[in-house]
Amino acid sequence: MAHGPDEGRRSEPRARIAELLTASAEPSADAGYLDLLGPDAEPAPTVAQRAMQSTLLPRIYERVWRPVGFNLAKGWPFGPDTAAEHAMARDWLGLGQPGDRSRPAATVLDVACGPGNVTRALAAGVAEDGLVVGLDASRTMLEQAVAHTRPSPGRADVGYVRGNAVDLPFRDASFDAVCCFGGLYLFDNPWAALDGMARVLKPGGRLVVLTSRLPGLPPARFGVGLLSALLGVRMFGDGEVARALEERGFTDVRRSRYPVMQMVGGRLDGP
Ligand SMILES: C[S@@+](CC[C@H](N)C(=O)[O-])C[C@H]1O[C@@H](n2cnc3c(N)ncnc32)[C@H](O)[C@@H]1O
Repeated sequence: MAHGPDEGRRSEPRARIAELLTASAEPSADAGYLDLLGPDAEPAPTVAQRAMQSTLLPRIYERVWRPVGFNLAKGWPFGPDTAAEHAMARDWLGLGQPGDRSRPAATVLDVACGPGNVTRALAAGVAEDGLVVGLDASRTMLEQAVAHTRPSPGRADVGYVRGNAVDLPFRDASFDAVCCFGGLYLFDNPWAALDGMARVLKPGGRLVVLTSRLPGLPPARFGVGLLSALLGVRMFGDGEVARALEERGFTDVRRSRYPVMQMVGGRLDGP
């Protein structure tokens, strides 16, 4: 069968990603992403996780849910909006910015990529030779990611994996940069997830996480704590995630605090 230019290029990221997978992984690629979970495996059935696996939320996530929910949680209009947040992610990860003449040919992992919104923003900071991999457990989120990610001239390869963020299916020291936005508070074991992110980073590689933050004031603390418990979303204390990075060998740890979110980043000790 003849392949158009798009089809020829589309298979390339999957082959590059397959080289990064642990030896035991045997993915199916029928849905346009590498599926390592198969039919049965879904994360714990909390209210929030069910929404991520539904058909409705992934469809409205990027245009409605994400900008409204996250911008409010970051203290709109004072906190960074989506574009500023993406620029911070690229900066903290040592990537370039869109339009920069020189961007690194980095290999980047976006953990809990959802519909690929942040994955594509990261790709805009990577040179054409680079590779950006989005990993998520939700089929419906990944369907959106695949549908909205088109190869374009001059842009890094982008591909998707269906896998478990708490047990990353990649070889040690595979990535120059790892990003995890809006995922850590959903994982059943966020600390094991951070262990895995440190493991798959190359020495000297960078990590950035955007996650929840339990507010300090008692009434807000009570209300947010109650709502998050109902939804099955973990709220992290001030400094908790930063300390976890330091315990895992990260240096230059920095964070930005918002009303109910925090961005935390660091560099894995190494050359
Ligand atoms: C709120 S979305 C975040 C999407 C995107 N990163 C962003 O910042 O907008 C959270 C994603 O985490 C995924 N997720 C939750 N638990 C997961 C797990 N254990 N492994 C992989 N993905 C998971 C959900 O399927 C969902 O797509």
